Amino acid sequence: MKLTVANHPLLAHKLTVLRDEKTNSPTFRALTEEIVTLLAYEATREVRTEKVSIKTPVAATEGLMLAKPKPVVVPILRAGLGMLEGMTRLIPTAEVGFLGMIRDHETLQPSTYANRLPDDLTGRQCYILDPMLATGGTLIAAIEFLLEKGAKDITAITILAAPEGIAALEAAFAGKNLPITIITGALDEKLNEKGYIVPGLGDAGDRLYGVV
Ligand code: URA
Repeated sequence: MKLTVANHPLLAHKLTVLRDEKTNSPTFRALTEEIVTLLAYEATREVRTEKVSIKTPVAATEGLMLAKPKPVVVPILRAGLGMLEGMTRLIPTAEVGFLGMIRDHETLQPSTYANRLPDDLTGRQCYILDPMLATGGTLIAAIEFLLEKGAKDITAITILAAPEGIAALEAAFAGKNLPITIITGALDEKLNEKGYIVPGLGDAGDRLYGVV
C-alpha cells in the first residue's frame, strides 16, 4: 500500500478553514470541493493516457488523452458525495459508482445500505472518495467490494486520515500485493474514544449537510 500526504501551502490554508468549527456548511461544502480537486490532481498522476494525433491551427502533432476504459469514481455516501463535484471537475468523463455505508456509533463497525458499482471493474482505474479515514473499517469494506468486482488499481482520496486507520488498512491487505494507494490532505494525530479523528474536523457529513 502506498500512502501520500499531499503537501501544498494552499491545501494547508484550506484545511485550516475547513477544520475551524466556526466555518459554516456552505463554506465547508465549497472548500471540500476545492480541496478534493487539489488532491485529485495528485491522485491522478498515474491515470492512463493514450497517444492521439491532432491538428493545431499551425501544425499536425501528437498529444495525450485519457485512455479507455474510463476511470471509475466511487463516493462513499453520505460524506463522500460532498467530494464528487471536486473530482469530476477534473475528470468529467469518469463513470460514477456509489456505495452507501454507515458506521455504528457504538461498535464503529460499518454496514452497507447501497451498492451501485459497475458490474465489472476489471482493468478500470478506481478512485474511492471518503473524507475521513478514521478506524479504516469503511474503507476496507469499500476496497473489498471493488476487489470482488475485479478492480486491481484502487486509489482512495481522503481529506484527513488517522494513523489507526492507515495501520488497519495495512494489516487488512498485508502480503496481498495489491496496488492500493491512499492520498490524504493530512495525517492527524489519533482517534478519540468515540472514533473521531483528533484534531480532525468533526463529523464531515453533518458539517457538509447542515446538521451542525
Ligand atoms: N467520520 C467523521 O465524519 N469524522 C471523524 O472524525 C471520523 C469519522
